[in-house]
Amino acid sequence: MTLRPPNPQAIVVFGASGDLAKKKIIPALYNLAVAGLLPEHYCVIGFSMDDWNDDMFREHAKSSIETYSRMPLDDHVWKPFADSLSFISGTFDDDAALGRLRDALAHADDDLGCNEGRLYYLAVPPGAFPTIVKGLGSIGANTPNARIVIEKPFGDSLDSAKALSAEIHTAFTEPQVFRIDHYLGKETVQNLVVFRFANSIWERVWNRDAVDHVQITVAESIGVEGRAGYYERAGATRDLLQNHMLQVFAFLAMEPPRELEAEAFRDEKVKVLRAVRPIDPADVVRGQYDGYRQEDGVDPKSQTETFVAAKLWVDNWRWDGVPFYMRHGKKLPERNTEIAVYLRQAPDVLFRELELDHIPSNHLTIRVQPDEGISLAFQAKMPGPGYELQTVRMDFDYDRSFTHALAEAYERLLHDAMDGDHTLFTREDGVERAWEIVTPMLERPSPLFFYKQGSWGPSQSDDLIEPHHWHLRTRPAGVHHT
Ligand code: BG6
Repeated sequence: MTLRPPNPQAIVVFGASGDLAKKKIIPALYNLAVAGLLPEHYCVIGFSMDDWNDDMFREHAKSSIETYSRMPLDDHVWKPFADSLSFISGTFDDDAALGRLRDALAHADDDLGCNEGRLYYLAVPPGAFPTIVKGLGSIGANTPNARIVIEKPFGDSLDSAKALSAEIHTAFTEPQVFRIDHYLGKETVQNLVVFRFANSIWERVWNRDAVDHVQITVAESIGVEGRAGYYERAGATRDLLQNHMLQVFAFLAMEPPRELEAEAFRDEKVKVLRAVRPIDPADVVRGQYDGYRQEDGVDPKSQTETFVAAKLWVDNWRWDGVPFYMRHGKKLPERNTEIAVYLRQAPDVLFRELELDHIPSNHLTIRVQPDEGISLAFQAKMPGPGYELQTVRMDFDYDRSFTHALAEAYERLLHDAMDGDHTLFTREDGVERAWEIVTPMLERPSPLFFYKQGSWGPSQSDDLIEPHHWHLRTRPAGVHHT
């Protein structure tokens, strides 16, 4: 499937002077321009409270591209891209600013033939979502051809997610709504679909008969990086587990969709999420890194978790009895997102005299980032007399297998939203089910343990996974994957 340029449209970025726009959205739009994947006719309208004019926005965009873009600034691309940029300064409920937006959109229709095609990107704190939706409705900008992209977190509980959907639906229908989860824009996450469903070897073992347990880890070495205002209320569960991790889980555990089409996909994802038992707080370990409470904007008695580990059970035919362990934390030893699928141990009848505890399990490691790739660990005979076993691996590595660089998640997702493709976006029922799954752990938080920065989190998380071991933790120092 090759991507094509979407239909002409106006792209409006609310929160255009903010961090997300600077680091992700503007560079992604520019990279789409480099790849020829922006519409043939388009304009980008920045909207935020800063007292900027068009030229100041262009300067800002230029420096954001110079600092954060995957592709270098190239005058041939930059010039027309810069010409497409304009800026509206004002609060999101300011009638005068909204009036200017209405005029700018009318120009886009008249001058660029946008035919009321619009993409509204809400790169703003969640508190501002309802105001923007209301403002867009008030100027009639919610045309049938308009689409609205909502950043996570989508609510902070089941009830608030439902209320937010209801507010959005006062102006936009569900097919116009694109709830973004940037993990689904990652190549390695999308590759789960091809890895599982375009190869016959894995399907045979992708079930309770062969799989012993699964581990999903999102380790980050960074801390909250000046985002305490948001993070204090979110914590690791709301910030990552409820969304990115459950979405990755859904791709990993769902049944094959009947076709490569958005609703078929989203139906299967929701179906497997419905089979996940809401997480029992007894199956959760929460941690906070030492020093978190001293960070700017953090309550000195904060109970917010910066680490969470949880055990998930999936009550369906395929996965009954197979634990899925999830682990995420900040200030861990490294940035590493990976999935480890452990198969059942082989019987050791032939090798009993080696007096091994057990024959190490075959396991697949899917390296989502960095060092993207997949490896399969298995036993081999160590050369020499007798039979000594050694774990070796077969390896697929993106760097070695493909020549082109991996696109940034936001590029793919922005393109798909402009093109109206919902496959990689979360549907209302999917978001709500994900909230249901974490509700018990939010309502009855497990005790909070402290951990040293640069460690793998509280030792209680090792107890949670017993009799197994966390995959990344047990890796010998300096070795990249086993
Ligand atoms: C964001 C979270 O959604 O994802 C951040 O709010 C987190 O706290 C980030 O650091 C991780 O994204 P990535 O793509 O760097 O793994």
